Amino acid sequence: MSTPQNSAQKGDFAKTVLMPGDPLRSKFIAETYIDDARLVNNVRGIQGYTGSYKGRPISVMAHGMGCPSVGIYSYELFNYYDVDHIIRIGTAGAISPKLKLRDVVAGIGACTNSNYFNAQFGLNGHFAPTASYRLLETAVGTAREIGKDLVVGNLYTTDHFYDASNAALEWANVGCLAVEMEAAALYINAHQAGKEALAICTISDHLLTGEDLDPEAREKTFTDMMEIALETSLKL
Ligand code: HPA
Repeated sequence: MSTPQNSAQKGDFAKTVLMPGDPLRSKFIAETYIDDARLVNNVRGIQGYTGSYKGRPISVMAHGMGCPSVGIYSYELFNYYDVDHIIRIGTAGAISPKLKLRDVVAGIGACTNSNYFNAQFGLNGHFAPTASYRLLETAVGTAREIGKDLVVGNLYTTDHFYDASNAALEWANVGCLAVEMEAAALYINAHQAGKEALAICTISDHLLTGEDLDPEAREKTFTDMMEIALETSLKL
């Protein structure tokens, strides 16, 4: 069995898949954190690996950028590859003064301007994309145990990285903390499949101050997010 987007066979993925946006980040994670990682998909270079972390099977595969992209990959992992949990490990732009660069945010929900939901599932209304409570609770507890700060709040998932109207900042007025481009689609796919998802994001840029992370800082905060995600995966 394979799909047009994924050459892996059934059974090639672990029950838990970590998903960064960037395929090179997927490769880096496999080489750095995953024991005996083997490449299970490389269609369109969207590298997917399976191996183990502290003796437990785990996979990592990129999801690309935006709702349609993460929508395809997560739909297939949940529905065709028997994956039970997906943790997105990405970056986001802060839209709230409560956040600073390097903070790590877990999305309890994801407001969105994307039409992914209504079109894919024929919904007449507005679905509320939410994280798996169990995954979120596990991640929060894990972060506390390993001494890492994890902020929990609402994300804003946009279809527009280049947004002339600066609409993202309006979402801060209704409590959203950070803008990214994938959590909402991932969350609805998890609910539709009866599976579990969580998006954890490192703040890489700040829309209020115009700051962004230099490469060294990116590396350091990435490590914090990875440790939270990997240690969380051991408890699922
Ligand atoms: N906008 C959308 N997605 C993002 C951003 C942003 O500013 N930063 C990281 N992902």
